[in-house]
Order: sequence, then structure tokens, then C-alpha cells
Amino acid sequence: MDITLTQTTNRQWVGLIEEYLQNDDPIINVHRDDKRKFDAIFVGGGAGGRFGSGYLRAMGGRQLIVDRWPFLGGSCPHQACVPHHLFSEAARELDLMRWFSGKLWFPDATNLRASILQVVQLFKSGRSSAHAFMNWQSKEQLDLEYILNAPATVIDNHTVEVAGERFQTDNLVLGTGAATVLPAIPGIELRGVYDYATFIENLDFEPQRCVVIGGSKTGIEYGSFFQAAGCPTTIVARKPLMRTSSLHHVDEDLRTYVIDGMRKRGIQVLEGCEPVAIQDDDHGNVKAVVIRDMQAGSKQTLRCDFVFVATGERPRSEHYREVLGVAVGEKGEILVDKHMRTSVPNVYAIGDLIGPPMEMFKARKGGVTAARNIMGEEYELDWTDYPDFLHSTYEISWVGLSEEEARQRYDNVVIIQMPPKGVPLADVPLPCAEGTMLYAMVYPELSGFLKAVVDGDSRRVLGFHHVGFGAKDAFQYLDHLMRQPGGITIDEMGNMNELFLNPEHFIQLCRLRAGSLNLRDL
Ligand SMILES: Cc1cc2nc3c(=O)[nH]c(=O)nc-3n(C[C@H](O)[C@H](O)[C@H](O)COP(=O)(O)OP(=O)(O)OC[C@H]3O[C@@H](n4cnc5c(N)ncnc54)[C@H](O)[C@@H]3O)c2cc1C
Ligand SMILES: NC(=O)c1ccc[n+]([C@@H]2O[C@H](COP(=O)([O-])OP(=O)(O)OC[C@H]3O[C@@H](n4cnc5c(N)ncnc54)[C@H](OP(=O)(O)O)[C@@H]3O)[C@@H](O)[C@H]2O)c1
Repeated sequence: MDITLTQTTNRQWVGLIEEYLQNDDPIINVHRDDKRKFDAIFVGGGAGGRFGSGYLRAMGGRQLIVDRWPFLGGSCPHQACVPHHLFSEAARELDLMRWFSGKLWFPDATNLRASILQVVQLFKSGRSSAHAFMNWQSKEQLDLEYILNAPATVIDNHTVEVAGERFQTDNLVLGTGAATVLPAIPGIELRGVYDYATFIENLDFEPQRCVVIGGSKTGIEYGSFFQAAGCPTTIVARKPLMRTSSLHHVDEDLRTYVIDGMRKRGIQVLEGCEPVAIQDDDHGNVKAVVIRDMQAGSKQTLRCDFVFVATGERPRSEHYREVLGVAVGEKGEILVDKHMRTSVPNVYAIGDLIGPPMEMFKARKGGVTAARNIMGEEYELDWTDYPDFLHSTYEISWVGLSEEEARQRYDNVVIIQMPPKGVPLADVPLPCAEGTMLYAMVYPELSGFLKAVVDGDSRRVLGFHHVGFGAKDAFQYLDHLMRQPGGITIDEMGNMNELFLNPEHFIQLCRLRAGSLNLRDL
């Protein structure tokens, strides 16, 4: 279908996307009357490809996006971030209902069971509207050219074949993302084993008992949701949760608060263990996971009907290695410089395809960086440090150094922490903050955690760490402030204007100490 000269509404797009998800016909939006060569073809129209295209077009260039799916936006709104946020929001609501069961206006939740299948179906029934908007915005507002519902085959560094047609371009930007590689354990193919993508696409029964494999963001987020829904969940991880190499700057006090909180909610957390087999019930369904304690060597069988594999993703780089010979790293990630240039002239790579961190900011900014360089600007992207977050039933955000990292690098580290170090959690209903007020009044120990790490000599804040609700937004701006020349000092923080009650208390706590010439812990 050629839609180049048609104006399709958002509502019409929803119908078209649903229809094209079931067929292989390409959706073509290419300005055939424009005889200019493309400045760039973006292979993959996910976060990286779409934002890169938008920027390049805004700079006056000509681009083409090719995506195998009938929509732009990629895995985030289809199978990854957006459902993750829906599940985490459901987990938060359910958690509140459980703690407040029969209290105040809350109904009795003793036998509360939320249908995981229903929430997945809810997501699937709603996700096309976000896709529709991106198709509409990209065409009608951003003036982007694209071919959707058609996989791209790269022929060489200036040629891409799509739906039987070859397109020439000055530059290629590769942004085809990453995919789960299931661990090679016997039984991984059984019915009842899912990763984040197949969980959305294929779940067809109501899980009753779950084992999550993997102790990083996906494992914690989905495991917290399953448990909150009323499906008893065990998380199995080789290292302590949140201590995998893909997460950096995780503060130990914050980590302890989060993992203890998960345990309080009934999640069984088994660290230092690896899965060795998934057992079958003789009908091809999951019956149990056998795990091995990596230190003791002992084995344990965990009965379950549902296994959620959260062992991370590998870049989809094979095609480019074979056809273009691009250099890749140990885990298949395409190697790029700070301009997003690969080892092959005129070929750029972005997003999850270049390896961790696999986060939206890096994908989008990588696309923009490639676009700016293609359009003649010298522009570098440094993604070594960034603000980070995940969900349990809480929202957990952090930026900068953990306390342990700061103590290794600075002599005079000052800590501002709530609840203060050494004080039993149940004695202090703090931080009594927006989003945790109910908990603070009834269950003080559940009302969150915060920490600011300060260099007492320069008075610069080195790190912020937070468990609660509603503070994630602030971390985007705190990151920016910390990156200013000289960073941000405790005095400048104390001089900011808070909107009290705020979801985190960094400003007022910094103000309480800012008057001291010699800073001390708080
Ligand atoms: C469960 C989960 C939750 C997440 N939550 C968050 C979050 O909350 N916040 C956050 O910042 N990050 C999150 N992420 C990470 C985030 O989803 C990714 O970093 C981001 O989507 C990567 O964007 P991308 O453009 O590199 O790839 P993608 O968005 O995956 O896009 C790749 C595109 O390439 C297309 N493609 C593949 N092969 C071809 C081909 N041969 N021809 C044409 N097209 C092709 C695909 O159809 C796809 O549209 C999450 C990840 C997971 C797994
Ligand atoms: N921003 C968000 O909220 C968000 C949410 C979800 C995902 N994401 C991003 O998406 C990417 C994938 O996240 P992820 O949590 O799925 O993966 P991840 O961060 O790469 O962590 C993978 C986990 O699986 C374990 N693991 C790997 N291989 C294993 C095996 N063979 N057997 C047993 N355990 C194994 C790892 O343990 P070891 O440490 O022992 O290797 C680790 O605990 C990450 O880059 C992440 O940042 C972001």
C-alpha cells in the first residue's frame, strides 16, 4: 500500500496497524518525485531510527526509515518499556491494596488475585494507539519518509533492498536493536517459558507459580508484578540482585532497602544460584526449575508452571558482520566511536545494536548523533554516565556515585540519608513524601529511602539515590545540574525552591546542612 499522498488519521492508523500485523504487504511513504539521493537510510525505525530521522530531516536532510513492523517506535512501545511501566503501575496499585487490606476505604484483599493474562491483554488491546501516533506524527508533522512492514536487506554500505526494490543512500544508520538469547538449559523450549517479548505475544494461560531467571531490571520489575498480582514468585540470580555488570553506581543501602522490601512482600530471592534444567510435566509444560547453589553445589527443585527468562539481550548484528564486515565486540555489539561511526565508511550504528546500556536515552541520542555528523556537524555522544532507574513495587532512581564509590575516590565523604543510618526503619516514617504518605502513616518502614552523597571538601554533591514514587523526573534534571562545570554544591541545592511536599527531600535536607562550614552527616 502506498500512503505517500494520503492523509491517514490516528484512528485509521490503529486499524491499519492491526491489519498489517497479520500480513506481509509493505506500507510505503516515499516521495518519488524528490530526485535527491538519501543522506541516510535508517535500518530500523525504533527509538534510535525515528529520533535520528527526525533530527536529520529537521536539519534539512533527506532520510528513509525501513522497519519490518507496520509501525515506528520499535520494541519500547510494542513489547518493552511501555508494558513494563503498565505492569509496574499495576504492581504499585496492588501492593497498596495488599498492605491496606480492610483498612480505611480499602476492601479486604486477603484473597486478591489479579489476572496477569488480563493485564497483558489490556496492553495488547491498547498498544496500537501509540504506534499509530508515531506513524502519523512522523509523516504528517515531521515529514519523514518510511517503508514499514518490510524487512531491510543491506546490500552494501550505500544500498538497501526493501520489498524487492533497491534504494541508494550516502550513509547507512543501523538501528535494528537486540533480542533475548535464551540460556542453553534443558527444557528452555517448554510451554510456559517466556521472555519479555513472547510473554506479550504468546501468554495463553494464567500463571499460578513463577520462577524468574535473572536479577537485573527486567527480572526485578516483572517479578515484582507477578508477586503483587498474587502469583507466588521466586527470583533466581547468579549474583546479588542489582549487582549485575549492566547496572552501575548502585548504592548498597539503596539495594538493601529494595531487596528487603521485595522479600517483605513475599518474593523468594535466591542469589548465588544458577538454573540447570527446566522440568516437564510429561505434556510439554513446565513443572519445575532445578537450580544449583553455585558455592555449595547443592541442587533445589522449584515447582512452577511459569518461567520468566530475564537474562538480557544480544545485539542483532550478524547480518551486518556478514555483509558489511563491521567490527563487533565480544557480545556481538557493533563497535562505534563517539560519532556513532562503525569500522565501515559511511555506516553508523545506534541503540541496542551497539550494546549496553540498552536504554531509550542512548538509542534516541545515538540516532541524533549519527544524524548531526551525517549532516556535517562534529558531534560526540558520551554515554558512560547517565541517571538510571528501575521499578520494584517502588520507583528506584539514582545518579552519580554510590557511597562506596565516593569513599574510594574522596577523603571526606558526607552522607545525607533518610531514614538516617543506624535508626530502625520502623522508628522513622521518613521520607514522608508525596506518593508514600499512606505508608508513612501506617507502615513507616515502607515509606521509602533517600541518600545524597557529598564531597565535604568541595561541597559538591556526588550522587543522589532514591526509593519512593514520583522522583524519577527530578533525576533527569539533577543529572544535568551535576554535569555543569563544578557540578552542583550542597549550598546551591539548599538555595533551590522546593515545591513542598515534594517526592524527594534533597533540597530541604541540603539546606539543613548548608550553613555548616564543616559538613557532617545527616
Ligand atoms: C522489558 C524491557 C523494559 C524496558 N524498559 C525501559 C525503560 O523503561 N526505559 C528505557 O529507557 N529503556 C527501557 N528498555 C530498553 C529500551 O526498550 C531499548 O533500549 C530501546 O527500545 C532500544 O531502541 P533501538 O532503537 O535501539 O531498538 P528497537 O526499539 O528495538 O528498534 C529496532 C527496530 O528494528 C526493526 N528491525 C529489526 N530487524 C530489521 C530488519 N531486518 N529490517 C527492518 N527493520 C528491522 C525492529 O522491527 C524494530 O522496530 C527496556 C527493555 C526491556 C527489554
Ligand atoms: N530502564 C528500565 O527500567 C529497563 C527495564 C528493563 C530492561 N532495561 C534494559 O534492557 C536491557 C536488558 O535488561 P535485563 O534486565 O533483561 O538484562 P541485564 O541487565 O543484562 O541482566 C541480565 C541478568 O540475567 C542474568 N543472566 C545472564 N545470563 C544468564 C544465564 N545464562 N543464566 C542465568 N542468569 C543469567 C545476569 O546475571 P549475571 O550478572 O550473573 O550475568 C543478570 O542478572 C538492559 O540494558 C536494561 O538496562 C531497562
